[in-house]
Amino acid sequence: MTIQAQLGERFRYHVYPDAVTVADALAQQILRHSQEAIKARGVFKIVLAGGTTPQASYRLLASAKTDWNRWHVFFGDERCLPADHPERNSTMAAEAWLNHCAIPHRQIHVIEAELGAEEGAARYRQQIQGVPPFDLVLLGMGEDGHTASLFPGHQHDADEFVHAIHQAPKPPSDRISLSQAVLCHTQALIVVITGAGKHQALKRWLAGESLPIASMEPVCGIDMLLDEAAISG
Ligand code: 6PG
Repeated sequence: MTIQAQLGERFRYHVYPDAVTVADALAQQILRHSQEAIKARGVFKIVLAGGTTPQASYRLLASAKTDWNRWHVFFGDERCLPADHPERNSTMAAEAWLNHCAIPHRQIHVIEAELGAEEGAARYRQQIQGVPPFDLVLLGMGEDGHTASLFPGHQHDADEFVHAIHQAPKPPSDRISLSQAVLCHTQALIVVITGAGKHQALKRWLAGESLPIASMEPVCGIDMLLDEAAISG
């Protein structure tokens, strides 16, 4: 069975020619979800993915015409680095997008990972108390099948909303991550995967391996955006 046939059995998915067209499609989907949420509930609560894949989409959002006052931005995970460190997920999102639009600063809910994994996680648990369900959660996937900062072989307290992560295989080793359950407590969830480097993890996911990305089974289902390289390897 082809990868696309396997994808079709389980997900709503769309394959684009390359990362540029994926980025444009993701930006459009984010705006579509925001319009639906704002119309239905007056606010749009989005959880951002980190890493590099969503960066081009975030740049496109910087010039979007929308009611930014209705947006509340959260982060799926954060790296335990100083607050303005260039490798922080919050810095990537701020430089690409959030510093260039009118979302009120108090509505950008950064994870205080500079305090360390335990203290930062404890504070974010307070910050997101009562917030879910989110309107949209964005997730990337690592080449080992991790997502957010949920890594293969790591055990977490299922009752925790926010995990302190140690010994992460993707530097830095200390991180903070929303839990699988909180990431799935959403009206919509988009997984964005580009590049040949993700092909093997995608195949392992579809083959049924118990990878962190495979634990994402939101009631709303998953919408997946991929490029040809991720599909064909
Ligand atoms: C991080 C992210 C991580 C990321 C994947 C994919 O802190 O790096 O939260 O989960 O989404 O590793 O990363 P790329 O988009 O850079 O391939």
